[in-house]
Amino acid sequence: MEAYIADWLHLGLRWLHVVAAITWVGSSFYFNRIDRSFRPPVPPVDRVSGQLWSIHGGAIYNYSRYPVGPGYVPDRLKWSKWESFGTWVSGALLLAVVYWWGASVNLISSSGVGPVAGILISLASMIVAWVVYDILCRIISSDQMLSAAVAVFVALSLWIFLQVYSGKAAFLHAGIVMATIMAGNVWFVILPGQKKMLQAMKDGTIDEYDVGADAKRRNYHNNYLTLPVVFAMIASHFPMTYGSAYAWLGFILISAAGVAVRHYFNTMHHGHARKRWLALAAFISLCAIVLLAPPHLMRADSAAVAASPPELARVSSIIEMRCASCHAAKPTMQGFNAPPNGVVIDSLASAATHAHQIRQMAIDTTVMPPGNLTGITDEERSVLASWLAAGAPTQ
Ligand code: HEC
Repeated sequence: MEAYIADWLHLGLRWLHVVAAITWVGSSFYFNRIDRSFRPPVPPVDRVSGQLWSIHGGAIYNYSRYPVGPGYVPDRLKWSKWESFGTWVSGALLLAVVYWWGASVNLISSSGVGPVAGILISLASMIVAWVVYDILCRIISSDQMLSAAVAVFVALSLWIFLQVYSGKAAFLHAGIVMATIMAGNVWFVILPGQKKMLQAMKDGTIDEYDVGADAKRRNYHNNYLTLPVVFAMIASHFPMTYGSAYAWLGFILISAAGVAVRHYFNTMHHGHARKRWLALAAFISLCAIVLLAPPHLMRADSAAVAASPPELARVSSIIEMRCASCHAAKPTMQGFNAPPNGVVIDSLASAATHAHQIRQMAIDTTVMPPGNLTGITDEERSVLASWLAAGAPTQ
C-alpha cells in the first residue's frame, strides 16, 4: 500500500515538475531569444530601444523593448515568477518522495553514509548552494572570474555528492545545486529588482534607474546553467553516465558541451551565429562518449572471459540471492510492490532476456544492487560477467 501511494505521488509530482520546468525554461529561452533579436526600430519610436517582428500561429506580432518603461506603469503587466517557483517546489517535493522516502534504495551508496545523514546532506545542499553562490556573486567583481568560480563550485559539489551518494543521486544533487541557484536568482534578486524598477517608474526617477550589473550577470548565469541542469535531471536514465568510474569528469564535459550549445544559440539570436561553438560542443561530447565507454568496449578481454563459462547453478544462485528480492514478480524487499521498471530478474531465463541491461547495471558499472543492499561480491560480479560473455546460456 505504502509503495503504491509513493508511486502515485511520484508520478503526479513528476508530471507537475516537468510541466512547470517546460514553462520556466520555455519562457526563459523565449525571452532570451526575443531580447537578443531586438534591433533599433525604424523609424525610431520614443523610449523603445529594440523592436522585433515575429510570425506565429497565423498572426504577426510586434515586440518592443522599453528599458526604462513606456513612461507610465501599464495596468496589466505580466510577470514571470510562478514558473520558477513551481519548478523548484515540485522538484523539492519529488526529491522528498523519491530520494528521501526511498533513501535506502535511491540515495545512499555503500559509502557508509546512512539514510538520515544522506537526507540531511541533501537538505543542506540546497541552502549551502544558494548561500555560497550569493557570497561568490558579492565578493567577485570580474564576470569571468565569477563564472569560473561558479563552475568550480558546482564541480566540487558533485565531487562531494559522488563520495556520499549513489551516482544517480549525486548527479541529481548537482542539478539541484544549479537549479536552486537559478530559482534563488529569480526570487531573491531579479524579482525584487523589478519591483524597485516599478517603484522608480511610479516615483518618476526611472531615468536614473540602473538594473545593476549584479542582476545582469545572474540572468546570464541562469541562461548558461539551463542545459547542464536539464542534463543532470535526465541523466538518471543513463547508468553509463552516472555509473562510470569517470562520472565526475563525464558530467563536467557534458555540462560544458551544454554551455557551448547555449552560447551558440545566443550568438545566433544576436544575428552573428558562431558555428565554432557548435563544433566545440560536438568535440567535447565526443570526448565524453569515449571517456564514458564501458570497459569491455575498450578492451578485447571478453573473449578470454568467455573461454570459461561458469557453472549455471552458481549464476542462478547469485541472481536469486543478490537480485531477486527486488526483481521478482512479487518482490520481498520492503518498499517494492512490483519489480523495478517492470524488469524481472529472478532466474537464469529471465536474466538472459535482460543480458545487455545487466551488463550495464551490474558489470560495467556497480549501479545494481543499489547501495549494494544485497551484498554482492566482486567475485560474484565476475561470475556474472563470464556468464554474459558466454552468451548468457540457460542450459
Ligand atoms: C534493493 C532492490 C534491488 C536489488 C537487490 C537489485 N535491483 Fe536492480 N533495480 C532496482 C531499482 C529500484 C531499479 C530502477 C532504477 C532506475 O530506474 O534507475 C533497478 C533497475 C535495474 C535494471 C534496469 C532496468 C531497466 O529499467 O532497464 C537492471 C538491469 C537491474 N536493476 C539489474 C539488477 C541486477 C542484475 C541485480 C542483482 C545483481 C539487481 N538489479 C538488484 C532495485 C534493485
